Amino acid sequence: MSGGGEQAPEGGGAPAPRAAGGGEAAGVQIAFGGEGFEDELTAIINAAYDAGEAGIWQAGWTRAGLANIGYYLEHRELVVAWLDGRPVGCVRVTRLEDGAGMFGMLSVSPEAGGQGVGRKLIAFAEAQFPDAEEMELELLVPRGAPHPAKVRLHEWYSRLGYVQTGRRDFAHPELVAPADLWVYRKNLRATPATPAPDRAPT
Ligand SMILES: CC(C)(COP(=O)(O)OP(=O)(O)OC[C@H]1O[C@@H](n2cnc3c(N)ncnc32)[C@H](O)[C@@H]1OP(=O)(O)O)[C@@H](O)C(=O)NCCC(=O)NCCS
Repeated sequence: MSGGGEQAPEGGGAPAPRAAGGGEAAGVQIAFGGEGFEDELTAIINAAYDAGEAGIWQAGWTRAGLANIGYYLEHRELVVAWLDGRPVGCVRVTRLEDGAGMFGMLSVSPEAGGQGVGRKLIAFAEAQFPDAEEMELELLVPRGAPHPAKVRLHEWYSRLGYVQTGRRDFAHPELVAPADLWVYRKNLRATPATPAPDRAPT
């Protein structure tokens, strides 16, 4: 890793208020698994990334295919957010060579967004590594004009205790323009775990 101390991408602004009654993802359960729901999970990931990475990729690019999901399931890497028996989001959880935990491919169905499902998925991912010093994530950031969704993510991850520790070139033939992978780490010992309270019964 290189760099560190990067400036926040500009142009974020204040987060939009949560939908009224959005609460804390009431009724959402988080668990490893997803067998039998491969098609739905693939669709959720691709819809989430279509929205979150609009303008970054050429038309036709997709974040995940069925083969990816099958691999993650086979290796017990996929964590799914369930609501009423259907998946509404997921995250891939792995351990890095240096012992740190990592999450990636964090995706929440656009219809379920803004209600705390993403935060619950991160909290679950962090909890899988009680012995780890650090948790890592990567953010794909286009060079040049700030990308609003990436600005929002940078600000959110920063609030959760993630600090940018590096940046590396990311070359992919389907990118519209050059982009970098920004690497973030959270010190799990020094920073409080991501909270994921259930909404109080009403
Ligand atoms: C990123 C993503 C998983 C977040 O899922 P989510 O369920 O909406 O997340 P949450 O409801 O827990 O909210 C996350 C934060 O975003 C903020 N937020 C939610 N909706 C927002 C909106 N419409 N505009 C701006 N900020 C918003 C919230 O304030 C929250 O921050 P807080 O917990 O400090 O208040 C989801 O937007 C997504 O799938 N994005 C596309 C894929 C992607 O970019 N993944 C991450 C790659 S690193």
